[in-house]
Amino acid sequence: MIGKRPDYSKMTKMKRCELAESIFIEHPRLKELIAQIRHAQLYSEISAEPECVFVGGLPGAGKTTLTEHYEQLFPRVIHEDRVEVPVLCGRVPSKATDKNLATALLLKLEDPAADKGTAFNRTMRLCRFIRVCGVRLIILDEFQHFVDKDSWRVLKNVSDWLKNLIDETGVPIVLIGMPYAVEILDAPGNEQLQRRFSVRSSIEPFGWDTDEERKQFRVFLRKVDEKLPLNEPSYLSDPLTAFRVYCATNGRVGKVMKVVRRATELALDDGLERLRLDTLAAAYDERLMADQPERVNPFRSRQEDLRVVPFEEPQMNFAAMSRRSRRKAREEAISHVLRV
Ligand SMILES: Nc1ncnc2c1ncn2[C@@H]1O[C@H](COP(=O)(O)OP(=O)(O)OP(=O)(O)O)[C@@H](O)[C@H]1O
Ligand SMILES: [Mg+2]
Repeated sequence: MIGKRPDYSKMTKMKRCELAESIFIEHPRLKELIAQIRHAQLYSEISAEPECVFVGGLPGAGKTTLTEHYEQLFPRVIHEDRVEVPVLCGRVPSKATDKNLATALLLKLEDPAADKGTAFNRTMRLCRFIRVCGVRLIILDEFQHFVDKDSWRVLKNVSDWLKNLIDETGVPIVLIGMPYAVEILDAPGNEQLQRRFSVRSSIEPFGWDTDEERKQFRVFLRKVDEKLPLNEPSYLSDPLTAFRVYCATNGRVGKVMKVVRRATELALDDGLERLRLDTLAAAYDERLMADQPERVNPFRSRQEDLRVVPFEEPQMNFAAMSRRSRRKAREEAISHVLRV
């Protein structure tokens, strides 16, 4: 050990990069979400109806990481006659259908015939396996795939299928997806699904407005720093460095980890045992600059020029997108007629 850190000197660069890639920090917002999901899981065992949860988060907010982490908290148990799967996690396929969603979940339950049979057969098999494997909670990532991106219409068929799955099995479901996916639950005609998802939550980026928010971001950076596979601390949580990281990432975990992981690799290439400002600057140029080309590299800016510039998020509104897509289809049809 060097100080509190293990001695990484004998490890290969690849091994050290692998460690950087596997860094996981259970930050306070994540803890709250885990508690909320845990409540849904436990409370559903005694409640009249399962308590289902929706969690929204922007790209890179840590949605899939949360899913995988929660799954690991409840590992599978191999019994003589069956495998117990307390938490079943799946990913909604794009252009979801009752058939491909049932298959995705059957695959996670290692059903060798996951893609066999009609939608009805697959669903019946899934319900049986959910009972046999003692599934207590289902988490579905990429919930926004319940919308057809060509027409921006909510796929009613699969929404109804999900409602029936909840009723048939009594197992609570956590839906995870882009923030706009909440509109799927609130879409006209989806009232039955909406009623089952009264708990709505989100994974927000870190903030920088209040002392408490800054503290939380700096604690996050300190924990990342402690886990970096380098022999010396990088002091990422120093107030000025933390502010630079914030300006570079707007507190998005995915962006923070992208720049820090790449900087680690660059540091190792240069034989360094800590992340220097110029290493972070080079990593930013490579990995984050393209997202906001007009932004001056915050790791090269003078302190007095540092600013938090909000990202512009595309506002998704299904009703508007669906109207636009119908209009476009009509216009295309008309132009076809005119050409003939
Ligand atoms: N709590 C965390 N600690 C450390 N790294 C994290 C954490 N949460 C997310 N990350 C990292 O941030 C990156 C993005 O995370 P993740 O893929 O979970 O985001 P996402 O919300 O699922 O994104 P998308 O919407 O694009 O699917 C990953 O590299 C992941 O390792
Ligand atoms: Mg994801």
